Amino acid sequence: MEFFIDTANVDEIKKLNDMGLVDGVTTNPSLIKKIGRDHCETIKEISSFINGPISVEVIAIDSNSMINEAEKYVKWGKNIVIKIPMTPEGMKAVKILTKKNIKTNVTLVFSAMQALIAAKAGATYVSPFVGRLDDIGHSGMELVAQIREVYDNYEFETKILAASLRHPAHVLESAMIGADVATIPPSTMLKLFKHSLTDSGLAKFLEDAKSWQK
Ligand code: E4P
Repeated sequence: MEFFIDTANVDEIKKLNDMGLVDGVTTNPSLIKKIGRDHCETIKEISSFINGPISVEVIAIDSNSMINEAEKYVKWGKNIVIKIPMTPEGMKAVKILTKKNIKTNVTLVFSAMQALIAAKAGATYVSPFVGRLDDIGHSGMELVAQIREVYDNYEFETKILAASLRHPAHVLESAMIGADVATIPPSTMLKLFKHSLTDSGLAKFLEDAKSWQK
């Protein structure tokens, strides 16, 4: 399973990339707003040290404008993936961008039917929003499992990118279901390392080492 980092914060990306945890990056308009920096400058900086895919989201709502935006964004880095919302106009744009060999990530996916439509349009990635479904009392993980089954039934190549993940259990469950990618916020990525038995075991080893260290 690939790990993408779900942030536009360059310092956080650098820190986790140094730990070997970053296979790619996902951003969205809210994450760009959060860092308060220029969009283009930020993506170019991320692209200067990340070789994997970097998702950049369009803000246009009609397909022609989405395509124009996409053609601008792909010039910002070496492996830019265009994030397109799950709408009829969005799927028109995905079809055309796919023909132009521009990679896409269909975002704001909340049903397996939407994921099937995205795959038929030729999307490179589909992003089911797990946490946002959980927030309204549905099961985000059930959605990931449904998409896995549908894609396997028809051998779609579209990759399942589990998004809106809120805690380590979401990452583990996504991996067990067979999602291709998990995009993970930095704070959750750091929690993936944690286990209380690791902490207490290390503390004991360090304490015992004092008895024989010079
Ligand atoms: C990533 O591609 C998504 O935009 C992101 O995971 C959404 O997460 P949120 O529901 O926590 O905003």
